[in-house]
Amino acid sequence: MARLEDIIAPVESEFRAFRELLNQVTLSELPFMRPITRDILHSGGKQMRPLLTLLVAALHDDARDPRVQAGAVLIEMIHWSTLVHDDVIDEAYVRRGQWTPGTLLRSKSAVLVGDYLFSKGLSQASRAGSFGAMRSATRAIELIVDGELMQMEHARRLDNSDATYTEIIRHKTAALIASAAECGVLPVCDDRPDAPQVTAMYRFGELLGLAFQIKDDILDFGFAEDGSQLKTGKVLCNDLRERKMTLPLIHALDEAAPADRRNVLKHLRRAAERTASVEWLRSFVAQSNGIAYSVQTMERYLNEALGLLEAYPASPVRKALQEYAAYVVGRSF
Ligand code: IPE
Ligand code: IPE
Ligand code: MG
Ligand code: MG
Repeated sequence: MARLEDIIAPVESEFRAFRELLNQVTLSELPFMRPITRDILHSGGKQMRPLLTLLVAALHDDARDPRVQAGAVLIEMIHWSTLVHDDVIDEAYVRRGQWTPGTLLRSKSAVLVGDYLFSKGLSQASRAGSFGAMRSATRAIELIVDGELMQMEHARRLDNSDATYTEIIRHKTAALIASAAECGVLPVCDDRPDAPQVTAMYRFGELLGLAFQIKDDILDFGFAEDGSQLKTGKVLCNDLRERKMTLPLIHALDEAAPADRRNVLKHLRRAAERTASVEWLRSFVAQSNGIAYSVQTMERYLNEALGLLEAYPASPVRKALQEYAAYVVGRSF
């Protein structure tokens, strides 16, 4: 699997320009915000969404367009703001190997920090005239909110199915990755969301986003291929503690005997308080086909995404996008 540093190569200078713009926009002049935004900037996210924007733009010979650059910054800032809010909702105290803003500052302040980040992202995009990106990204925010609410409701009711899970992740994760890809091609299509290249790239991003979240959910269980402990920078098995039924568990349940099903529900109800219940659920999934089935599902999305790239002639940028797609499913954090 290629490393992200190598995948960046065809858009290296554009990616550098993106990072400079992100620094400029993020570093707040406000005395209470400044140390917070500085920490977020230096916390070392993978910056995969803006990279997708720039690679898709390069595929259409448009990576230097200032509207593309501003779109990439907008997407990353919305991503940050959803992570800050998501960690409050999920009561996750560690991300990227560091305390989350919700832990350091308490949830009340973290909500404000999240609001600040996406507002800043939107204001710089409006100054750059990235109106297509603003339409696309604000729609993604609507879908993310709906996805998080849908997820909460199913966690509360302790029911989930393959089809509902797919709807949840299409909203909460794939929508923003789809928007990242869309923002790369909108300027060259006069911001028309119905232009065929735009709908194809949106779908490309959406498929990668579905695969991305399935990978995230597999990683949450912490099974490394060689049996060692995974280092994802997050607390493992947080989904179980939050009663989130993700694809590996959903599939394991689908194939389970009635007595096992009752036990799964019992342990999920207790998982927030009891480590033993988390461990029981983890080994139940380990002994099932849940992970293998999730890997298969993820690879199906990956292959469908790769098929969409076949419409473009071979080039270093197309190759980088193929490697990017492989990275989404091959990554270990
Ligand atoms: C985490 O996204 C949130 C999910 C959608 C699973 P990333 O894994 O891209 O987060 P960072 O920015 O690299 O930390
Ligand atoms: C990621 O959902 C989607 C959003 C951040 C909206 P998760 O809750 O599974 O992501 P992680 O595991 O906390 O990164
Ligand atoms: Mg979370
Ligand atoms: Mg997760």
